Amino acid sequence: MPAIVLVGAQWGDEGKGKATDLLGSSLDYVVKFNGGNNAGHTIVIGSGAAAEKYALHLLPSGILTPTCTPVIGNGVVIDLGVLFQEIDGLEGRGVDTSKLVVSASAHVITPYNRVLDRVTERFLGARKIGTTGRGIGPTYADKMSRTGIRIQDLFDENILRQKVEAALDVKNQLLAKIYNRRAVQAEDVIGELRSYVDRLAPMVRDTSLLLEQALDRGDTVLLEAGQATLLDVDFGTYPFVTSSNATAGGACTGSGIPPTRIDGVIAVLKAYTTRVGEGPFPTELDDARGQFLRKTGAEYGTTTGRPRRCGWMDTVIGRYATRINGVTDFVLTKLDVLTGLDTVPICVAYDVDGVRHNTMPVNQSDFHHAVPVYEELPGWWEDISSCRSYDELPENARRYVERVEWLVGARVSAIGVGPGRDAIIERHEMRPARGFAGPA
Ligand code: IMP
Repeated sequence: MPAIVLVGAQWGDEGKGKATDLLGSSLDYVVKFNGGNNAGHTIVIGSGAAAEKYALHLLPSGILTPTCTPVIGNGVVIDLGVLFQEIDGLEGRGVDTSKLVVSASAHVITPYNRVLDRVTERFLGARKIGTTGRGIGPTYADKMSRTGIRIQDLFDENILRQKVEAALDVKNQLLAKIYNRRAVQAEDVIGELRSYVDRLAPMVRDTSLLLEQALDRGDTVLLEAGQATLLDVDFGTYPFVTSSNATAGGACTGSGIPPTRIDGVIAVLKAYTTRVGEGPFPTELDDARGQFLRKTGAEYGTTTGRPRRCGWMDTVIGRYATRINGVTDFVLTKLDVLTGLDTVPICVAYDVDGVRHNTMPVNQSDFHHAVPVYEELPGWWEDISSCRSYDELPENARRYVERVEWLVGARVSAIGVGPGRDAIIERHEMRPARGFAGPA
């Protein structure tokens, strides 16, 4: 049985939680493999007055499916205060979180990582990245420079002390001499991290081994990315990216599942494009049409509350996502937001200084100068939020889906038509198989 990867195709906030929800009952494990509490899933369960909204930042969305074991993989960076806050919040609403498993090798976001994220951004001024300020970048930087603190380090106070003191030798110089901030005391850090040890201990496992055993038994494992393709540290719009691999390759290194065991890759693509933070965005709309998308799509950050930048569908990005991730199935979300437009523009290529680019320019300066080449499709006015089969969609909505599908180069297997959990059309069964031949 399969290991399936789920990624975002654009700059995040595509609605991955909904795709997880759709697969929910068939999943035995949901693994978060990168990122930390910079992510934000809003999941709506039920509808009307009974609708309950869950905002998750760190926990895998599988936490809401009782039959599923949620796993925080080794590729994640964990803020333990946030972890227990989210657990307590869910438990308070009657959600059982006792199955949660945490990798012994995941890195911990320390108080000095959080401070450094914020002061570095301030120091950068106009050149800032627009991070979520949660300490994500500094924690991954420590991981790569081999000065990070891992979950397993918390259980041995001597080891923890050695590592924290070694890290602070450098960080405190930085904080005091470059950023003009107060030094962080090792004892405060150790005290904070050690305060979680008793609650944490029963959750901590060798999650790579656990997942290998699960796959051997025939269980289904979903590997869920935080952030998205264009925020990937290697393949995104560097330097305006997050600090981890949010593309399908990261699913292996962030979970310990080898590439030969991955059976399919589902990518979530919003019917238009959004981005938070700084950085280039060719189809961005600075006018009433952008405001229409923001208002109709409720495009405000789950983690930071920031208004999201909005623009039309960009299929150059969609094709790139297909290539980098090896997408087998797309879930196209929020199609209902496009209802009521006379025409719906789709970006099919870029014009860069008079040269047409059908693929993502490898040179970041070209991407900064990319002017979208649009195709205009006829719009639709019918309310599509209660459609549950593909045939029920208005003809022009279907034309839009099929044109996007053709342009991005992989089939659209599910379509989101509203915020509710069940507001989705399943077009093809999402049991991704190797060797998908092209758009349906
Ligand atoms: P960081 O991940 O906090 O370091 O922020 C780096 C960039 O990634 C910023 O532009 C953030 O706004 C963006 N980012 C991080 N997480 C998310 C997310 O879940 N959705 C959308 N953008 C994100």
